[in-house]
Amino acid sequence: MNPEELQNLAREAQSRLESLQTPAQLEEFRIAYLGRKGKVTCLFEALKTAPSEERRTLGQKLNELKNSLEEKLKGRQSGLSASGGREKEFLDPTLPGIRPASGRIHPLTQTIRRITGIFERLGFEVAEGPEIETEFYNFTALNIPLDHPSRDAFATFYTQVDSPRESPFLLRSQTSTVQIRVMQKRKPPLRIIAPGRVYRPDRVDASHAFMFHQIEGLMVDERTTFSELKGVLHLFLRQLLGPETKIRFRPHFFPFTEPSAEVDVNCFLCDGRGCSVCGGKGWLELLGAGSVDPAVFEQVGYDPKRVQGFAFGLGVERIAMLMHGISDIRMFLENDLRFLRQF
Ligand code: PHE
Repeated sequence: MNPEELQNLAREAQSRLESLQTPAQLEEFRIAYLGRKGKVTCLFEALKTAPSEERRTLGQKLNELKNSLEEKLKGRQSGLSASGGREKEFLDPTLPGIRPASGRIHPLTQTIRRITGIFERLGFEVAEGPEIETEFYNFTALNIPLDHPSRDAFATFYTQVDSPRESPFLLRSQTSTVQIRVMQKRKPPLRIIAPGRVYRPDRVDASHAFMFHQIEGLMVDERTTFSELKGVLHLFLRQLLGPETKIRFRPHFFPFTEPSAEVDVNCFLCDGRGCSVCGGKGWLELLGAGSVDPAVFEQVGYDPKRVQGFAFGLGVERIAMLMHGISDIRMFLENDLRFLRQF
């Protein structure tokens, strides 16, 4: 053994000790250098064969090395246990912060808020009604005859499965129920917009769900004409879809409005030229609407000779799908963040 060997060992041990991270590594180090067959211990053996003139100084240096290693090892061990087994973490305050995961508003809720927002600015007020309803509110008060196909157990969810038509309750199949509930409680003038869930036992596919959302509108006053219905819907659709939006009223039938219409907008995907979304027609059907049928006013105790009104209904999923190019209605309920993060 010579002084150089000793110095090299000291340097090597020193730098290795500094790089150790865990208690296990420190123990490994202790065995490798200070253990019974450790490198330092072996040098004590080698000391015996060193020339006698050097033995004293080498022995001293070796002892110093051993003591200093033992001390530093202890220091590192207590440092590690103080920081819970981890080396003290280096904090760099100049690094960019970690952005907390933030939530978003569901695309359907966004669509509902946009639509109700437009009507609120036109003086309509948001109303709500129960999702569990009676036949009276879902059908009878809306002038829907007893034998109408929408009353069938294949078209509406009844609470009594074995004898559906005797059920005291059903899941509402349209938000038109809210028209009745509001008119029963209040006197005209009325301007309400009623968003909510509706339920129908449809076979689920890319465009059908057993639960979806509708928005109902109702305006009643002494003189509320069909042309006002047209004006309000035109204003609404231009605000929702852009100032160039064209609308078209097609004659239709609903038991609770007379006259009734289905309302189309020019297909904003192909600009009316005809595409797969509008089925080559150039028009998209968006709403059902009409003047409130006098029979409905009678059901709620309004005098049809003294009041007039209009009502309309639209499907939220359909509008959201058209506006965002969503091809499958089931995506709204899958909770897939890859889908939801896009809105
Ligand atoms: N309730 C009708 C439906 O679900 C839509 C509608 C509402 C039509 C109000 C006219 C007036 O299809």
